[in-house]
Formats: sequence, C-alpha cells, structure tokens
Amino acid sequence: MHRRGFLKAGLVTVLAGRPAIAQMKMDDMPGMGGHAGHDMGAAPSQGAAALPEGEALRDLPLLANKAGTSGLFKARLTAEPATVRFAEGLDTPILGYNGMSPGPLIEAVEGDRVEITFANRVPDEASTIHWHGMPVPADQDGNPMDPVETGTDRTYSFELPEGSAGSYWYHPHSHGKTAEQVYRGLAGAFVVKPKADPIPAGYGDTVLMFTDLRLAADGTLPDNTMTDLMNGRVGDYVLVNGQRNPALTVPFGTKRRFRLYNATNARFLRLSFDGAPMTIIGTDGGLLEAPVAADDILLSPAERLDLIVSFDKPGPATLYTLDYDRGWMGAGRPADAGLTLFTVHVSETPADAVPPLPDRLRPIAQLGAPAVSRRFVFTETMAMSATSMEMGFLINGAAFDMNRVDIVAKAGEVELWEIVNEADMDHPFHVHGTQFQVVEHERDGKVSEPPYLAWKDTVNVARGETVRLLLRQDRPGPRMYHCHILEHEQLGMMGIVDVQA
Ligand code: C2O
Ligand code: CU
Ligand code: CU
Repeated sequence: MHRRGFLKAGLVTVLAGRPAIAQMKMDDMPGMGGHAGHDMGAAPSQGAAALPEGEALRDLPLLANKAGTSGLFKARLTAEPATVRFAEGLDTPILGYNGMSPGPLIEAVEGDRVEITFANRVPDEASTIHWHGMPVPADQDGNPMDPVETGTDRTYSFELPEGSAGSYWYHPHSHGKTAEQVYRGLAGAFVVKPKADPIPAGYGDTVLMFTDLRLAADGTLPDNTMTDLMNGRVGDYVLVNGQRNPALTVPFGTKRRFRLYNATNARFLRLSFDGAPMTIIGTDGGLLEAPVAADDILLSPAERLDLIVSFDKPGPATLYTLDYDRGWMGAGRPADAGLTLFTVHVSETPADAVPPLPDRLRPIAQLGAPAVSRRFVFTETMAMSATSMEMGFLINGAAFDMNRVDIVAKAGEVELWEIVNEADMDHPFHVHGTQFQVVEHERDGKVSEPPYLAWKDTVNVARGETVRLLLRQDRPGPRMYHCHILEHEQLGMMGIVDVQA
C-alpha cells in the first residue's frame, strides 16, 4: 500500500481550516532524519526529558463538596494553565482542573444532586466539561454544540439516579480541541458510590488513572504530529495519577480495590499484575453480577475496570504492559510491551484478616429485544495527489458535522447497534448519555460472546471486527457517538443521535 511508503518519507504539516480532514502538503515537509524518532512517536523518544520513578503513589485529591446539605454535591472546577514538575529542574506548562492533572477526584453518591460550576480559563479557547458515561441530561453533558467561551462560567446540574454507581470521568469536548485539551492535562475521575457497597470497605477504593505524557527536552508538551493525527497521540510515558511507575507498600495477604482508568488519547493498555491475581468486579458503568478472575486485561482508550488484586506473597508485584497490536499506520510503532506502570511492595508483615469478596455483587437486567437495528461502518480514507495527502476517519462514509443529525432515536426504546470496523486500526467506540450491553463480537465469520454481562460506555472494535450491542437512551436530546482515540474523533469519526421524547 502506497501510504506506508509515503509515511516513511518524514514529517508533514497539517493545514488549518479543514476540520474533518488532515491534509499534508509535500512542500511543507522538512524532510527525513532529524527528529523522525520523536515525530514518529517512539517511546521514550530521543531528547525526551527523563522522569523519576518509584515515588509513593499519590491518591488523587478529592474535590471538596461545598454544599452544606446532604444529597447535594456542589463545587467549582476551573480549567486553567498550570505548571508542573515532571522531570528534575524542568517546568512543564499544562492545562489543569483547579491547577492539577489529573483533575481532582469527584466522589458522589447515588441519589445526589450535582451542581458544578465550570470556569473556563483556558486562554483563547472554548471548552466544555463532558461527564463521560454518566446518565446526565443532554444539555448538561458538555456537548461541542454548547461551548463555554474562554473567560466565562457555566453551571452543570444533574441528578445521579439510583443504580448509577460506577467509574466515570470528565474531560473537555470542545469542537476541534478535545484531543489537545486532554493531552495538555484536562481529565479527571468521577466515582459514583452506591448507597450500600457489597465490596468490603477494608479493600480500600483507589483510582489509578492512566494518562499519556510526551515531554520535550525543554520540559514542554510538543504539539501533535502527523503520526499522532493518524494513530492518535502516543507519547513517551504512561503515568499513573500523574506519576511514572509510583510505588505502594502493603502487608501480605492484602486485598485492594483499584479502579483503572484509561484516560490516554490513544494508548491500548493490555495489563497484568505480576505475581498478584486480579479479579474483575466492575466495568465502566458499575459492578458485574459476579467477580471474574483475569490473567490479563485490555483497557482501550476511555475504558475503565474495577479490580480486586490479592497480594498473597511478599516481594514486589508490578503492573506491567503486554503486547497488543492495534494496527499502526506508518513507521515507529511504539513498544507496547514491558512498561512497568505501578509497583506494589508486599511486606513480610501479614495483613489483618479481611472479609472475603461476595460471590454475587448485584443483578444486571438484560436489555430486551430491540425495536430498531442500526449499522455503523468505520472506515479510514486516504487520498493522495502529487502535492498532498488527505486523511479522513469516517462513520458510514461521513465525517462529523456539528449541524447534522445522523440518526433519530426514541427515548426508552431498546436498539441494536452493529459497529463494523472496516479500517486498518482498532477504534474504541463510545456513546454518550447511557450505558450499553455488548451482545457479541464477530471476526472472520466467527461469533463470540463477551465473557460476562456488563454495563459499558466504551468498547474496542478491533480492525476487521463487528461488535453488536444493545442500548437504550432514556433522556431526550442530541448525543454524540465516536471513536475515543481523540485525534480520530477530532478528524471526523463521530456522529450525532438525536433522542426524541
Ligand atoms: Cu469521553 Cu465523547 O467522550
Ligand atoms: Cu462520553
Ligand atoms: Cu479511532
């Protein structure tokens, strides 16, 4: 295929003013060599600043609830420039929520009413806060059609219904700026707790939020390259709660609850805990029906998993990455395997006895027979002329248009969505405003069922694969669906479903 040959030719420039298409002009290419290593996304790249590792794991700071009454969560989130020190002696300008990245952890309880005032202080850019995965009204969900201009505030308010406990997150969704605002630092976790939690409190409850960092030698965050636009940005480091390979010490026999979040723009994380058995207890939209043991897990961009890890023998236990080929365009596929993300030192001291994990966690009602079926075909296009190359990421042949409704659905009706990936890369599919149930995967004519029934808002659709899922939107209004490789979303792989009452 000619495109691979072309991509080896070197760095290319994206012209402005073509929102749905990345266009590169041969004339603008600075040529090969030089910074190819960096531009092609090798990790860590030559010239990248070195990050210290092994510091004590930081818990994400909690967003303080300013409401004086129970049942209400009230706070303020400001998106603003901040400076952090990732590497010794280097200041890195980032964007943070309340000055930090990841943003503060929001913890609320089912049944709560939430009122969060968002102050956009990102210089010269509109932003929004999108409540990823949460059952909030469409006009409170930070859609690109509802920008919060720089220097202005708006309050998002919504109720957390019964049964909505889960591991959600928040990030900007501003038109044409989402990918950049997220890799510059804007993302945070939002945990909704159930009124009564079946998981023993003695296991703790720790969010591990994975973000991606590319750091230039001068400490700045480089802009996206052409390779980033094609594959999604994959930087030099995967951080956990903003730290490189942080450490935690626990007594042996400890069981810990970890909520894993993939908040990277485009990293596929296939993970395993060396020497410490993992049990999956929940997904994006909350607990499973019953715990499921797992040797390794795949977290595609935007997915979450709730895990119990048993630290049964003294010594180090590390969370590390395994190989996963998600389809890479061009040269410089980053090494996926062998990154140590997190180290737990299991001491010789035995832990106090903790209650066992219950066999049943909660019931999950299966969504019934669909009233409507729809098909969404994902493709990548690439057109080349003598002087330029254009790339598009499309759903059913169309790139996103904020002024176009792609499909109309009825509130309360179950639909079967068939996501067909006819492209050369995996695309993690996400829908706003609801949680869905994956019914089956089909690849090369082989149909398989997911290993457990679960509520999810993001599912990876591997290249050549078809995923079928059931979903129901209960609240009216426009909702986005898109690939959660944020560069693909930005280049057009997104559509709008208008839900009517
Ligand atoms: Cu995580 Cu449309 O978003
Ligand atoms: Cu979302
Ligand atoms: Cu994609």
